[in-house]
Formats: sequence, C-alpha cells, structure tokens
Amino acid sequence: MKGLILAGGAGSRLYPLTQVMSKQLLPVYDKPMIYYPLTVLIAGGIREIGLVASPQDLPRFQQLLGDGSQWGIQIQYFEQARPDGIAQAFLLAADFIQSGPVTLMLGDNLFFGGDALPRALTEFQAGATIFAYHVNNPECYGVVEFDQEGRAKSLEEKPVSPRSPFAVPGVYLYDHQVVEIARQLKPSARGELEITDVNREYLRRGQLRVTRLSRGFAWLDAGTSSSLFEASAFVQTIEKRQGIKLGCPEEAALRRGFLSELAFEELLKKMPACEYRDYLASVGVEISRGSAVAA
Ligand code: G1P
Repeated sequence: MKGLILAGGAGSRLYPLTQVMSKQLLPVYDKPMIYYPLTVLIAGGIREIGLVASPQDLPRFQQLLGDGSQWGIQIQYFEQARPDGIAQAFLLAADFIQSGPVTLMLGDNLFFGGDALPRALTEFQAGATIFAYHVNNPECYGVVEFDQEGRAKSLEEKPVSPRSPFAVPGVYLYDHQVVEIARQLKPSARGELEITDVNREYLRRGQLRVTRLSRGFAWLDAGTSSSLFEASAFVQTIEKRQGIKLGCPEEAALRRGFLSELAFEELLKKMPACEYRDYLASVGVEISRGSAVAA
C-alpha cells in the first residue's frame, strides 16, 4: 500500500491566514497540520508516500518533510499547477501509484482514536474502502446514503438536501483501478474532478466498501477558521489530559519499527530543546523499557 496526501487547494476560506502560507502548514495546536495525516499513514504501516501541492507551496513542504528518510520512509512530491479537484491527484501521481493500492488522505483532515484506520489499511484487498461519519452539517461534504441492510446506496457531493447525516471523510483506499477511473472523469459543475465521482464509479462496479466510524471516533477538518481553532483545542485537550501527543511522525515511525531506537535518538539530538523533543524522549524511554502502551 502506498500513501498519497493532497495538500492542495487555495485555502480561500482561511484568507488571510493562507495568503502567504499553505493551509496544510498552518499549526494545529503544536504541530503543522500536515503532520496529522502523515502520522496516520505511517501508523498504518505505509512507507512510500506521495505529496501533492501547488508549485508555490511545494518547496515549503520539501523543506519541512524532506525525503522522509529521517523517519524511515520515502516521500515524493508532485505539483498540482491548478486546484482542479481531489481526483486529479491520481493523474499527477499515476507513475508513483503504478499498480496500486493507494490510500489518499486530504491534508486538512484530522483523525483520532480507535484502530479503524490502521485496521482498514492492513486488511485492504481490492476495490475501494471509504468511511462514513455522522455529522451535523452533511451538506458541507460528500454524503453517503445507506439502504435497509446498511449497504451504500447513493453518494452525493455537497448536496443541498442531504439524504443522510453520514459524511465521507477525506481518507480513501483504492486498488489499481483508481488511475483508470480518474482518467475517465469529467469535471463537475464547479469545474473539479470530484473524489465522489471516483467513489460512485466503484459503487457502480459493486466494489465499494463503506465502513462506519464509531461514536467517539474523532474526525475534524480544518478548512475554516472556526474548525481550525476547534481542531487545535481538541488536540490540546487530549494531549494535556493524557500526557501523549497526537500526530508525531517520529513516534509513529518508532512504534512501527521504521526507525531503530538508535536512529530515533540521533533524530532527537538534531532537535532544539523543546516540549516536542521532551515528549519524544519520554516515548523512546518507554519503548526501550518495554513499558510502552499503544498510544
Ligand atoms: C472534500 C470532498 C468531500 C469530502 C471532504 C472531506 O470536500 O469533496 O467529498 O467529504 O473533502 O473533508 P472539500 O475539500 O472540497 O470541501
């Protein structure tokens, strides 16, 4: 399984925050936003990751994340000249995806809790797996409707009158068919290649699996100033209460065995003295004592 993160979009709803800064580099409490989806992919065992961003933002991501070798992974970069839709990521990264499978994550989506995502990544075999999450504003998202048996019946992108309260979050697992499906898409009324149209095609082929995310699972998106602020408050609340940090790629890489304890220690030596380094140091100690809990 490969991973693809889309860190595109104009971020217009966050203006002027995004006037000189990519949305996905803005802070969510104590880390850049992109750290959170990246950590989900690493925790799910993915080592080959592609990042799609605009030509002006790409150098900043490269500066922040490098080639990934510091975390025992590989990161490749792809330019999206214009924000022509989420599904365009598959066309831009077609050579990287090759014969798939691939997990696409939107760079402004944050997921916390449970093992639903790592499990889905590990168990994925063929077709497509997407998720459904009960929200109070489904009209802002892709919406999935279920039939009596709980099978997906319809999918709509930002419907004016949603047929269900279940939104489709920005994490999608696809097999090799995704590139061919994306190549056949026509731009929607808003001029974008829609991810919902990709999912619809898998549904039409009878190959779409929709997993409902349980109560207590947290999915936040950080696309508006309110939701960005709420995401930061959420992360701060959990981190303070539990004494753990969310969205640390170094920690996920160590727990996954992508980094040896020695390489982890070396990495820490390169960081300035700060709360983030202190936390990672405590994780390293826990793991080497064998007293680590899966956090
Ligand atoms: C996009 C997708 C939508 C999905 C959402 C998740 O919306 O088009 O289907 O539910 O991401 O964040 P957008 O980023 O265009 O608001």
